[in-house]
Amino acid sequence: MKKKITIIGAGNVGATAAHWALTRNLGDIVLLDVMEGIPQGKALDLWQSGPLDSYAGTVTGTNDYADSANSDVVIITAGLARKPGMSRDDLLAKNVAIVKSCAEEAVKHSPDCFMIVVTNPIDAMVHTAFKVTGLDKSRIIGMAGVLDSARYRTFLAEALGVAPADVNALVMGIHGDKMLPMVRLANVGGVPITELLPEEKIAEIVERTQQGGIEIVNHLKTGSAFYTPGLAAVEMAEVVLKDSKRVLPCAAYLEGEFGISGYFLGVPVVLGDKGVERILEFALTEEEKAALQESVNAVSRQMEATGL
Ligand code: 2OP
Repeated sequence: MKKKITIIGAGNVGATAAHWALTRNLGDIVLLDVMEGIPQGKALDLWQSGPLDSYAGTVTGTNDYADSANSDVVIITAGLARKPGMSRDDLLAKNVAIVKSCAEEAVKHSPDCFMIVVTNPIDAMVHTAFKVTGLDKSRIIGMAGVLDSARYRTFLAEALGVAPADVNALVMGIHGDKMLPMVRLANVGGVPITELLPEEKIAEIVERTQQGGIEIVNHLKTGSAFYTPGLAAVEMAEVVLKDSKRVLPCAAYLEGEFGISGYFLGVPVVLGDKGVERILEFALTEEEKAALQESVNAVSRQMEATGL
């Protein structure tokens, strides 16, 4: 049976995710937004690309949650985006209210959905959606590790002169400055990057990855990245819909894994049709533990600010 994917928020990230989801043939797409006309117009535009880029799904633009009923996957992108000078935390107060209402409404119509939260600050927003919906922890994750790891892999591939797809690298922790691009685990075709690149170059790439979002905000001036954030969310949805058991870094709810409890944080997750099927836990070095704790401290401050 054809799958149904609802994308809430028809801004840059949402509309781009709808585009990727259609062209990857994930199923029928519903693009939903409170702004009258925007999801309808963008959906119509996407639909008309069908003859030029064949896909099987339909695309519907709407302001009505009833149209999202019985979605297999719901992706929440609604919310304000950053402008230069803003941190992701600056968005918190406004986006908490938006995410709360989107998540509640979505689950009323799709109680069995798998939910992916993209709105910033992601780790706190996915926790907000988790609390207000009561979804099981296996049915809800935050997008960020896939995006941050894609940036890390891109920069490493450029430095090494290799295909980005052959770079395996993991970014853990918060989607923010304290994120943890793992150095000792990163490899190209199985060869550790520490054997191939000087320490200073790796440090430069780690720093550029941590600042990857703001680098784009500073260019755009009116908003933040959307092509890769949109694709990252769709990649996660695809793995769940196709039950492919791929291991992707996602913000998952932790109950003791890596010594952390009660927070969503980026960790390697096995995704399948049961959602978060397993968290791949492994021993961290003392340095990595300390760095991950900084992520926990930052997310904990964000959660306090949500008042939940
Ligand atoms: C980014 O890192 C939008 O937070 C997102 O680009």
